[in-house]
Amino acid sequence: MTRVVVLISGRGSNMQALLGAGLPVEFAAVISNNPDAAGLAFARQRGVATAVVNHRDYPDRTAFDAALAEEIDRHRPDLVILAGFMRVLTDAFVERYRARMINIHPALLPAFPGLHTHERALEEGVKVHGCTVHFVTPEVDVGPIIIQAAVPVLADDTSDSLAARVLKQEHRIFPQAVRWFAEGRLKLRGDGTVELDGAGPPQPPLISPTPEQ
Ligand code: GRF
Repeated sequence: MTRVVVLISGRGSNMQALLGAGLPVEFAAVISNNPDAAGLAFARQRGVATAVVNHRDYPDRTAFDAALAEEIDRHRPDLVILAGFMRVLTDAFVERYRARMINIHPALLPAFPGLHTHERALEEGVKVHGCTVHFVTPEVDVGPIIIQAAVPVLADDTSDSLAARVLKQEHRIFPQAVRWFAEGRLKLRGDGTVELDGAGPPQPPLISPTPEQ
């Protein structure tokens, strides 16, 4: 069975959605850079091994990433999942997990990479916002797109209401992407394109729900 390591930094709701999705995977470990991450307790309660590699204990990114990789590799994962993991990773780390590390980003990439995506979406006045699951490549929040979900931006939205609408969709598309990977259907090709079932990019590539869904 596909062995999975999940990296979190905080709340861990995406990790919870993955743990609760009945996926054909073995959750080998949940690892956090933040000892206070709320998600760690949830994982422990579910009988999943947890570990903390605190970035504050290391002099620089290279040393932190080396320690993190050592901890990850102890669990021999087939797939590394960044689920709200809020550290920028070195190129060497990303290369080590090439084609077997995925991330969720709370925006429709390539729009709004980086932080504060919901605030920025409201500021820009976009009418459609959403979330993206992608393979991780060295540049932050850039990377071959696996699946996206779109949501409308409503006239009375605050960043909190918009974030909540997007988060609901994050909890749908992330398990879908992991399921495809675990079933051996999802691959990152050498040329950087994504394939599903040996064909082109996943279909449907976009989940476009109504606000109520
Ligand atoms: C999510 O919105 C995720 O897309 C972003 O950080 C947030 C983490 O939330 N990268 P949670 O920890 O999964 O609840």
